[in-house]
Amino acid sequence: MSDANLYPIFDRVLGRTEKEARLGQRGRVFWLYGLSGSGKSTLAIALERRLHAEGITTHLLDGDNVRTGLNRDLGFTDADRAENIRRIAEVSKLFVQAGVVVICAFITPHRAYRELARKIIGAADFSEVYVAASFETCAKRDPKGLYAKAGTGAVKQFTGRDSSFEPPASGDDVLTIETEAETADASLVRLHGAVSPLIHLQS
Ligand code: ADX
Repeated sequence: MSDANLYPIFDRVLGRTEKEARLGQRGRVFWLYGLSGSGKSTLAIALERRLHAEGITTHLLDGDNVRTGLNRDLGFTDADRAENIRRIAEVSKLFVQAGVVVICAFITPHRAYRELARKIIGAADFSEVYVAASFETCAKRDPKGLYAKAGTGAVKQFTGRDSSFEPPASGDDVLTIETEAETADASLVRLHGAVSPLIHLQS
């Protein structure tokens, strides 16, 4: 759709700086990605609870939740996944403008989707966190029974099976949390340690 007849009022609305000052924090997006069952949601939930307890205003956006509402019209083709990420990135950006710390948990299987999110949100407000666990480990954990279902052909385009997942490349600006190698508590401590310095106003 053409935006020739739109007159955005970005320059007149109350600014992010005032909102961040009121909250006493910096808005930012922490984008957790990885295979289904890698531990993204568990880690995101734990991080949000911890930050909330510390007085930080947060919001958590998670794949299965968002796909029951805003993105209920989207499936798992490449085009739908790209649109899923685009919308979530735009929503995240709105929260950041309100000074909120946003924790996203989405498979985000392709580098191009992560780049899209970074571009929409802006590199200065975006931290990429790869929640790493092998396909075999995730299939063994299978918290939702989806790996078993995908094995019988009951779930199409399943990530890691018949739809690809691209891990980050060595040069990518990303924090990697290996959930196979450490306990959930240890992963949380590491993630929280990386997040904390980025969301305080004086930092
Ligand atoms: S993404 O690829 O577009 O980033 P997203 O994180 O929103 O995916 O949704 C993934 C969640 O949808 C999974 O955690 C799982 O519960 C569910 N799901 C249903 N079908 C699939 C599928 N074919 N591939 C991956 N996840 C699926």
